[in-house]
Amino acid sequence: MSMQEKIRRLREETERLRQGGGEKAIQKRREQGKLTARERLELLFDPGTFTEIDLFVKHRGTEFGLDRKEIPADGVVTGWGLVDGRTVFAYSQDFTVQGGSLGEKHADKIVKVLEMALKAGAPFVGINDSGGARIQEGVDALNGYGKIFYRNTLASGVIPQLSVIMGPCAGGAVYSPGLTDFVFMVEGGSYMFITGPEVIKSVTGEDVTFEALGGAAAHMTRSGVAHFSAADEPSTLALVRRLLSFLPSNNMEDPPALDTGDPVDREESALADVVPVDPNKPYDVRDVIRPVLDGGDFFEVQPQWAMNMVVGFGRLGGRTVGIVANQPRVLAGTIDINASDKAARFIRFCDAFNIPLITFVDTPGYLPGTAQEHGGIIRHGAKLLYAYSEATVPKLTVVLRKAYGGAYLAMCSQSLGADFTVAWPTAEIAVMGADGAARILFKPSPDEGDPARALREWTAAYRERFNTPYMAAARGYVEAVIEPQATRPVLARALAALGTKRESRPARKHGNFPV
Ligand code: HXC
Repeated sequence: MSMQEKIRRLREETERLRQGGGEKAIQKRREQGKLTARERLELLFDPGTFTEIDLFVKHRGTEFGLDRKEIPADGVVTGWGLVDGRTVFAYSQDFTVQGGSLGEKHADKIVKVLEMALKAGAPFVGINDSGGARIQEGVDALNGYGKIFYRNTLASGVIPQLSVIMGPCAGGAVYSPGLTDFVFMVEGGSYMFITGPEVIKSVTGEDVTFEALGGAAAHMTRSGVAHFSAADEPSTLALVRRLLSFLPSNNMEDPPALDTGDPVDREESALADVVPVDPNKPYDVRDVIRPVLDGGDFFEVQPQWAMNMVVGFGRLGGRTVGIVANQPRVLAGTIDINASDKAARFIRFCDAFNIPLITFVDTPGYLPGTAQEHGGIIRHGAKLLYAYSEATVPKLTVVLRKAYGGAYLAMCSQSLGADFTVAWPTAEIAVMGADGAARILFKPSPDEGDPARALREWTAAYRERFNTPYMAAARGYVEAVIEPQATRPVLARALAALGTKRESRPARKHGNFPV
């Protein structure tokens, strides 16, 4: 065979394998509004930058007719490309061949790119669309999943790992996404569950649809498993690119700096009108967060779950920051089990990837009730304390209004290692609010003529004395009381000063995080 013939054969074979399950299978997917595995990668990466590896990999299964079955690329496309000019490694499961099911070699391909990502110090994105373990390959398929879980765990905190769910993701297959940092879902086009509706019906008698059990809405609003969702596949992949724009490629790098053109000394007079002076009036804390950030750009994580805690990314002076804030509009900004879990996981991600934390505090405390106590609020709330205490990135805190008791401490107080804490004049830093304190401490004297008036006076005196930022400022627990409109310049200056912070802790294998 001449060189020209060899090249022609290579091209034909490459083209044939790249067709995956063929035109008919692709057409069926299109009718369901789905893109092919390769089209998804084209959208994920900068145009024309994807390099595929292991196209010629073949399975070794022989059982149940598998020896006669060709599974192009073994049902998964792997390789790397550029996202905004930076290298990212990825896999994309191809449902058109054997339902994207995961066999031995399919898993080996994923493990290989994950290891390449780890060696290169580049983010890893997995696009999941698979019927799960390839049944005909039995325990070899299960072993493949195990190898992926193991690598996901080794890579955790070293490179950002993102999972995109674009089809079924069932059984143990959900645990690779579950081990990664962020999960993206397509609304109405993807689902995740450990056991499906049929098994649930046979075991518990419960009737539930795929969508209600494990669709994007279920995981965005109820379980907290998913972090982002969008209406279709292109917009979901655009969210992946947006998230990556905030992140460093690995834990040894700082996040990318971007010239946002927004002056750091910009004061925002509107901030003075956002937080009501009346501690019982709600407001949307995002109206404080956005004006402080460059261009008002706040990329919220898990916006529909545990909404009493707001977390997300933004930039200050071009540098990525992680925002954690109580949301007084939901459950009065109290901290409950889910809010603790949400914030703790986000804080740990930011800490692992050198992203400074800015915390906005307005919380009356932990949410009371038997459901919370018996659900383990002590254990879950402890995660928040642990995550903040363990974080060594620059930690800046702004107390907006209520900061009472344990919740004051938990929201990155100075005693948990905040590097710089400021309070607005509306701040109330105390063991509790005036009404609660009065219920415990107020004892009208027997000769008091008007007990109701005495109570009012007592409460007012307490409020004047304790429900202010000045007691904390007098002790140096907050570094300054600032005017709301100066929040952005004050934080930007602090970040510029503390951005080089380095903190080391005693060597240990790992702490015992209160999971
Ligand atoms: C082998 C599979 C497969 C699998 C699908 N296919 N799942 N082949 N192993 N796990 C094949 C089908 O036989 C079919 O092949 C093709 O993929 C498309 O599947 P359809 O059923 O026609 O598609 P659809 O109707 O869209 O249904 C998709 C589906 C369904 C809901 C995912 O295929 C399904 O329920 N599959 C089994 C899911 C499952 O139970 N997986 C094991 C989970 S346990 P042909 O040749 O007809 O085109 C698990 C353990 C992991 O994953 C443990 C890790 C620790």
